[in-house]
Amino acid sequence: MPTAPLGPRGPVVTRLGLGTMTFGAETPEAEAHAQLDAFVAAGGTFVDTADVYAGGESERIVGRWLADRGADVVIGTKGRFAPPSGSAGASRRALARAVQGSLDRLGVDALDLYTVHGWDDHTPVEETLDALSSEVRRGRVHAIGWSNVTGWQLGRIMATARLGGYVVPTAVQPQYNLLDRTIELEIVPAALAEGIALTPWGPLGGGWLTGKYRSDERPSGATRLGEDPHRGVEAYDVRNTDRTWRVVDAVRSVAAAHDRPMAHVAHAWLLSRPTVASVLLGARTTEQLAQSLEAATLELSADDLALLGDASAPGLPSYPYGMVQDACGVDVWRRLGTAAPTD
Ligand SMILES: NC(=O)c1ccc[n+]([C@@H]2O[C@H](COP(=O)([O-])OP(=O)(O)OC[C@H]3O[C@@H](n4cnc5c(N)ncnc54)[C@H](OP(=O)(O)O)[C@@H]3O)[C@@H](O)[C@H]2O)c1
Repeated sequence: MPTAPLGPRGPVVTRLGLGTMTFGAETPEAEAHAQLDAFVAAGGTFVDTADVYAGGESERIVGRWLADRGADVVIGTKGRFAPPSGSAGASRRALARAVQGSLDRLGVDALDLYTVHGWDDHTPVEETLDALSSEVRRGRVHAIGWSNVTGWQLGRIMATARLGGYVVPTAVQPQYNLLDRTIELEIVPAALAEGIALTPWGPLGGGWLTGKYRSDERPSGATRLGEDPHRGVEAYDVRNTDRTWRVVDAVRSVAAAHDRPMAHVAHAWLLSRPTVASVLLGARTTEQLAQSLEAATLELSADDLALLGDASAPGLPSYPYGMVQDACGVDVWRRLGTAAPTD
């Protein structure tokens, strides 16, 4: 499987990573261990978890697998929204507890990548960076990242880290997929400017990009939206829009041309995007994972990318982005193809 550095200060990982948010939730332990086995057998090396997934059970399941198999993988976990017994936030105290909790549940003595799961408005970022820097000095954490931040937050984190002499983040973990390219306005340009890596979550839009949902039929059965149609950013009433169906149709037609499942096209498109180091795969079953693991072998042509890009372009608001692009010659959104097609 192809590999890439997880940013300038991170380990080298496979370009497909295994997300474990389903472990201990939709995916019972034996099936989760089968997914981990299949991932490693396919050459995968990067496993992403978080202390909040299934109230800590995802980390425990990964930990029991590590203890049993003795596998050599890069473990990334996240803290900030602590499980019920801990104190939440990105304060020094909360992070010390969160890191210890993750080490205990995973049964390891160091975390390869520790990601702050979201911005904390109640803790100065200096405190968070100082706490993480001491974790790095103690050898409990090797590299750090942030997730679910806005552009100004990422800019402040990076500037504070560099100017304050703290450990500098190496990666950012945002939602990014053909249905939601909003991060191209701020986060992707910031990541390019800072030289840090993206590890996108939600590459299939929570399942929408597999073509499993219909515009005229509410989801049912053992699917994410069948079980909870109001689930987060992928909720049925939120995503059931003309734009979604335009994108899904484009993915379907590219998939048909290559005789591949739609999931391959969604993953391959993300792998083609600038600064994307590793795409976090999500799966309920080992069969779903096995299908996604073959995505790295799909090469999309320039015509495929143009079709997908035109269908999914989020549009560039005229102010300040359009003005900055035209009046100041900032070219990043043109290079990303962020603007709506002009026809
Ligand atoms: N930092 C964050 O805040 C954050 C947030 C979310 C996720 N993550 C990370 O990113 C990982 C991936 O995110 P995600 O799970 O949202 O990714 P996703 O790829 O957008 O969605 C995965 C879901 O799509 C469905 N699916 C997958 N393959 C399929 C196939 N071949 N056919 C039909 N349905 C299929 C499954 O749901 P059903 O079968 O149940 O419908 C599966 O659980 C997570 O495991 C986690 O590690 C991070």
